[in-house]
Amino acid sequence: MVLGVLIAVYSSCIDNKFNNATVNLASGYQLYEKNCSNCHQTDGSGLAQLYPPLLNSDFIKNNTTAVDSIIKYGQKGPIMVNGVSYNMAMPSSKKLSDFEIKQIASYVLIKFNKLDSLYTN
Ligand code: HEC
Repeated sequence: MVLGVLIAVYSSCIDNKFNNATVNLASGYQLYEKNCSNCHQTDGSGLAQLYPPLLNSDFIKNNTTAVDSIIKYGQKGPIMVNGVSYNMAMPSSKKLSDFEIKQIASYVLIKFNKLDSLYTN
């Protein structure tokens, strides 16, 4: 039973390859505004000790492939971003398709963290 659940979780993991075909920054912006900016703010700067920044985030720079699964499955437990510790729960985004998640992740990686080089294939 537990093994079955684990296999289900693993097989639903998102393909983490970076591909220019999924980059659509205009669409990424709109999806970000709708699904993320309430907490992380339009400019990605976060909110005080509650919501960590996505703008120039050392956590993102060190975990580039984790961004889509954080969007898909949420994030909880203590986390350190740019020297500040956070411990709140980010909900999972069950309504977003994997393609939409890719577009948001591309927007966050490129616009907020200048990680354009990940997408040169
Ligand atoms: C309800 C508020 C809320 C929403 C909406 C939300 N987040 Fe979060 N997010 C959080 C919190 C709180 C954390 C830190 C969780 C913890 O303490 O472990 C976090 C952490 C993160 C992190 C890792 C830490 C960092 O700042 O680098 C990323 C990346 C992230 N969120 C991206 C997103 C994206 C993209 C969206 C939109 C799809 C989104 N979040 C929507 C509250 C939110």
